[in-house]
Amino acid sequence: MLFLRCARHLFLHSCIFEEKIFEILPRNTVAKTGGCFILIAVWDKEFCCNWKSIFLREVFYVYKMLEEQKNLVDRVREEVKQRFSGEGSGHDWWHIHRVCQTARAIGQEEKADLFVIELGALLHDIADHKFHGGDDTVGPRAAEKLLRELGLNNEDVIRKVVAIVKEISFKGAGVPTPMSSLEGEIVQDADRLDAIGAIGIARAFAYGGFREREIHNPEVELEVHSSFESYKKGKAPTINHFYEKLLLLKDRMNTGEGKRLAEERHVYMEMYLDQFYKEWEGAK
Ligand code: ADP
Ligand code: NI
Repeated sequence: MLFLRCARHLFLHSCIFEEKIFEILPRNTVAKTGGCFILIAVWDKEFCCNWKSIFLREVFYVYKMLEEQKNLVDRVREEVKQRFSGEGSGHDWWHIHRVCQTARAIGQEEKADLFVIELGALLHDIADHKFHGGDDTVGPRAAEKLLRELGLNNEDVIRKVVAIVKEISFKGAGVPTPMSSLEGEIVQDADRLDAIGAIGIARAFAYGGFREREIHNPEVELEVHSSFESYKKGKAPTINHFYEKLLLLKDRMNTGEGKRLAEERHVYMEMYLDQFYKEWEGAK
């Protein structure tokens, strides 16, 4: 029987289910993706038989839909990979790849829409304000243009992905950066996790070098920015960036998993800074 054979990976899409599914099924058996529900596991045979006819009718449609989603994600990935390969400021393809991986893992934990997460993570740095004269409207427009060019016409998904690109960036210590969807919160956590820990340190110095900033200059005072405008204008040495951003991120994580992962990376940065200042003072 098709249904029983596919019981672990049955794909559903139905208006009735959208309203009813969480009443009928235990929450941990269902994941949401791009408006579809993936039935992860249903072990109750009697239940399966009652619902079999609806499942069979819907299975083909949803398989097709998921295949289309997967194709679109593959094309966006190819395009982004091409544009960002070899970039030298810490915003290269592998940064985006890591953000996708982390966001996917947190997204599964949080039972969020993995289609939106995947597209949001792939496109989050598509035209960052840092590389466009401080203009933070270029990114959301570029993301929307690319998605439409590649044939996406699900307006709800487009709106959510564009919002992620628009809202994700850090804007200064005193500037709140709320995300308008769970998927956005997850991609923001993944992006911020890649800004801290061992990789975050490497990226900060890569960016500092790219901008011809000093590694450290004890004569330049630390600044905590209270507006996005002053944060964007900052030209301080890279060590200062730890205090204006990196060390603040662990307390600005959105999800439980994000907070947990940030904790370990934060401790590593503190150890790194201790060692850095010891060496700065010279061997004793
Ligand atoms: P966001 O959009 O939140 O700024 P990004 O994915 O664009 O996140 O990456 C930001 C990273 O770029 C920082 O974590 C850091 O590694 C680097 N960066 C940005 N500004 C500076 C700076 N002033 N000094 C050093 N590194 C910086
Ligand atoms: Ni990023």
